[in-house]
Order: sequence, then structure tokens, then C-alpha cells
Amino acid sequence: MFDRHRLLLFIKRAGTSCPPLDAPTSCVDHSPVKPPSLTTIALALAILAPMAPIQAETPAPAPTLINGYQPTWWKEAVVYQVYPRSFKDSNGDGIGDIPGITSKLDYLKKLGVNVIWLSPHYDSPNADNGYDIRDYRKVMAEFGTMADFDKMLAGIKQRHMRLIVDLVVNHTSDEHHWFVESRKSKDNPYRDFYFWRDGKPGPTGPDGKPTTLPPNNDPSFFSGSAWQFDPTTSQYYLHYFAVKQPDLNWDNPKVREEVYSLMRFWLDKGVDGFRMDVIPLISKNPAFPDLTPDQLHNYGNAYANGPRMHDYLQEMNRNVMAKYDVMTVGEALGISLEQTPLIVGDNRHELNMIFNFDAIRSNRVGRDFKPADLATLKAIYTRHAEVLDTHSWDTVFLSNHDNPRIVSTFGDDSPEFRVPSAKLLATMLLTLHGTPFLYQGDELGMTNYPFKAIGDFDDIEVKNAHKANVVTGKVNEDVFIANLRHTSRDNSRTPMQWDTSTNGGFTTAAKPWLAENPNYTQINAAAEVSDPNSIYNYTAKLIALRRVHQAFVYGDYKDLDPENKSIFIYTRTLGTESYLVVLNFSSGPVAYTLPTSLKVDSLVISNLDTTNLITSTLNLAGWEARIYKLQ
Ligand code: NOJ
Repeated sequence: MFDRHRLLLFIKRAGTSCPPLDAPTSCVDHSPVKPPSLTTIALALAILAPMAPIQAETPAPAPTLINGYQPTWWKEAVVYQVYPRSFKDSNGDGIGDIPGITSKLDYLKKLGVNVIWLSPHYDSPNADNGYDIRDYRKVMAEFGTMADFDKMLAGIKQRHMRLIVDLVVNHTSDEHHWFVESRKSKDNPYRDFYFWRDGKPGPTGPDGKPTTLPPNNDPSFFSGSAWQFDPTTSQYYLHYFAVKQPDLNWDNPKVREEVYSLMRFWLDKGVDGFRMDVIPLISKNPAFPDLTPDQLHNYGNAYANGPRMHDYLQEMNRNVMAKYDVMTVGEALGISLEQTPLIVGDNRHELNMIFNFDAIRSNRVGRDFKPADLATLKAIYTRHAEVLDTHSWDTVFLSNHDNPRIVSTFGDDSPEFRVPSAKLLATMLLTLHGTPFLYQGDELGMTNYPFKAIGDFDDIEVKNAHKANVVTGKVNEDVFIANLRHTSRDNSRTPMQWDTSTNGGFTTAAKPWLAENPNYTQINAAAEVSDPNSIYNYTAKLIALRRVHQAFVYGDYKDLDPENKSIFIYTRTLGTESYLVVLNFSSGPVAYTLPTSLKVDSLVISNLDTTNLITSTLNLAGWEARIYKLQ
């Protein structure tokens, strides 16, 4: 049988210093890339043709495990999320775009991240900033062209980085041609691509005519009912998110085939995998029973884990992922930690990793803000280490485009502590167990935005919630805005702060699509790249450290003082190599006495200029972070 993966690997490695075949996939080559020559390709084909039957008879030896883990490139990766709308505008229309990203690849390379996760770049009417896709095979016009995408991808590969793209297939845009067809008539061939149901009989209307109510009580994540009445056929369609985001019916095999086909389209272009949007929601109970009052409290959990979710993920894996060397990470809304191994377990053949939201949402009660606390965070990381074994790989993240800024949420964004606390958080993310995901601007210590009024927001979630809660008089406007200052997704969507020029160098337009945080004059990339003590350069050092010492990737994790409310102290140990990470999660100084059993060898890195470092009692300043090598 033709082995596509081995062929691609051979071609990719031609012209690099990596061994051509049968070497660990994580080989990193630092020599300049040469495109494979025709001779190389011909040679690859010649080698692989006679090899195929031999390979079928003699299976390749299993790779050597590291501390029980099978090593792979995506376990060793450091991922950086780009939200294209807010990253860099190249053509002065106020909206970030793909050529803008390409122009900043050296900035990312210098930081040391080696996988870029690109939030949706597809054609979309932007009801939810690209998470409502109109055409999966087209680039959003505001972001550029397919040629721009190809150029960006080539630039990423040239720099030995990889690209994963967002796969948004729980729903499409209502402007996608499948839905345009689907809503036309009950017997349209695309009708069953979506969920259409009759309403329930409602009370008689003011005009004396009968009315209908939605088929069940499912709420939408973006306020109101999850069902929208469509007058053309007098039925309702399901939309867990905005009215303009109808949910696809995965029980229809044609839908699944279409999804697998579009995945292949992007993989064949050379992308290295997918971040899968709200993937646990793809399977629904087609009877759509009413949610119980208990389920209504957390309807995300009720929507996840549908009856055929695992079947569909396994089928997707068999049909698509198994044929490529890819990384997959699912946005696992509604999946508990205990359920995680059922999706990511390496014997399950579903996804490589998921995002659990326990840590990132530890500062919320429902949708309301509560200050994050260290004890809760530590307990979560300990539970992860207990529940996920060597067959279930984890992710580490505390920020993304759906959450406020990391330093404003888990650190201290006051002028005194913003820099050390941002560095401390980077220290933690890059030394905990699991693949770290950084969000654009974290490396600069970008902060939440000083929102004042509803007009400052762009997000559909906020606008809908305002109509449903404030306009109806259920919630006081000031209380609503005060909460959003801590929780709104727009906090992280303000444009990247590149320099001190107007609009932070993000755009030359008079007005960006969302206002730049006014603190760009102090917090910006130009200043940080040139300052050896900046958050950016500190983060780069941590990434390099993680790359060199596999203990930070595959090593055991142990929290040494779980009860301590301000100090997070843990070890990462791989064989005889052991590191101690000490983080002061408070703004006050702490004298912390190390357990006598620990023998410190040397200080590896610290986020402050601290003297007198190797002592049995550590005098830690507010938000100080240190990593020691242990003897
Ligand atoms: C999760 C995405 O991260 C979020 O931005 C989006 O609004 C919803 N899924 C709907 O696609």
C-alpha cells in the first residue's frame, strides 16, 4: 500500500539535516529550507514503491517511550493563537489580515513558538467574527486571498513552524449554500443538513390566529431560544449559538462526508491539523426533549456528549486524521476531566488533546466574575495529573479569544506588578504538564480594556445579552458593564499593540474595527523586542528552556504545597533530571522555607533581578517566579 505519510516526511526532510525516514517526527532542523527537487520526489517514490510490501510484513518498531509517553511533535510544541482580525492590518482597512500575519512571522519565530493556531480565516458574513462560515474553501475577503494564505503557509513552513486551522463544523453560517438550500422547502436535498422541527402549539395571538412556540426549551449560548422560526416552511431550525449559526445535522452521513472532504482540502494544502470548535456538541438527541431545571443551569454540559459523539470522532479519525501526520485539539465545552480520556486516550483514535475549561473559567460563577484563587487553580492541576495518565495528553492555557486577558485575570495588571505577574504566568504555563497554548499579546502582557459603555463592545454575545437582560430591565446597566470589564471576550480581541504609532501600529486606518487599548503607548511589541528584560524576551527564554529540557514536557508533576494560598511550588522530574518551580502568586513578599529533602543545584531562571538565591529560605518578592535545577 502507498504510504503517504512516509513519502511526505521524506520529501519534507530532503534538504534538511533531519534523518530522512523512520526518525522521530519531532526532529528540528535549523538549516535553511530548500524545496524538494524533482529528483528527491522521484527518489522518494522509487524508495517507497518497493518498500511498501516489506513494511506491511514488518511493522516499524514502536518509538521509545519517554517516561511512559509516546513522544510526538505536538506534545513538544508551544502553540500561539492568532486571531486574524486583531493581529496586523496590512492594507489599511482597519481589519487584520493574512499578509499582516505573514509580515510578523519573524516576530513569532523569534519568540520560539512552533505551532500557530489560526482562528477562522474562511469566507464569512462575520455574525460571530468568522465562527459562522459561508464557504469552507474560500478565504475571507477582508483577510486576503487563497494566494495570500498559501504564501503565509509557505512562510510558516520555511521557518520550521506549523499551522493548525480552526474547524468550525458544529454549525455553519445561515448564508452557507447548504443552509440557503435547506431553508427553501421541506423536500430540498439539503433539508436534512440541519435540524428542522415543528413548533409546539402556542396561545392564540392578538389577531385571533394560533401561534407556535419553539420545539423545546433549549437556550442559545447567545441568549434567547436555540430555535428560530423560519416563515418559508413554518418550521424552526436549531442554532446553539447565534440565529445566523444554524447547527449541522451530523446524523446525516452526507454532512459528515462534506466535513471530511473539507478537512482533506486544507490538509492537502499542507496545514498540520485543527483546533475543533465546540466539537462535543456535534451529536444531538434528535428527539430534543426539554432540558430539566437542573440541566438548564449548565446547558453546555447537557448539549455535549451526545449519543454518537464518540462514533463520529472515531469515524473522522479513520477517514481523515489517520491518513496524515496532524495535531488535533478539541474545544471541549461540556466535557469533564473524567470524560477526557474517552476523547484523547491514545487507544481511542479520536482527538490528540482537548481544552478543558476548569482552569480558565475558575474565576466565574456562571457568567459572573469572581476573583481567581490559587488554591482552586492548584487543585485543578493536581486533578489533571491524577486523572490523565501517560495515554491521555493534556493542554495548558489560561487565555484565548473567548476569555479576558491572562494578566488582568490571573495576575495583577497594576503598573507595579503587570510585568512580573505576566512573566510568572508564562513561567507556569510553560512548565506545567501538557502542550501550552499562548494567546496573541500574552507575550507583551496586554491587559483588559477599560470598557465604559455598551457601545464599546463588538461581540454578538454581549450585544444579545444586553438586549435580553439590560433592555428588559432584568439587570442594571452598570452592574452588567462592570462584570463585562472582567469577563468580556472583547478584552482579548482588541488589536495587537505593535508600536507607539497611532492605533499601536496595528492599522493605518483612522479607526480599527475594535478600539486599540489606549495603553499601547507603554505596552507594545517594538519596545519589548528590543528590551532584554521584557515579557516577550523572558517568554522566549522559557520556550527555549522547555525545548531543551524534556523534563518540562514529559516529566512527572508534583505540587509540593497544595494548601499554600500564595505560593505555587512544584517539581517536574524526568529520570535523574528534576526542576523546581516556585511562584509567588501574591503582591506581597513571602519568606518561603524549602522542604529539607530538596537539594537545590542552581538557579535556572528568575523573573526578577534577585540576589541571594540559593538559600533554604527563599525571600520572594511580590509575583516573583524562579526555576531551580535540583541535585
Ligand atoms: C467557540 C468559539 O471559540 C467562539 O468564539 C464562538 O463564538 C463559538 N464557539 C461559536 O462558534
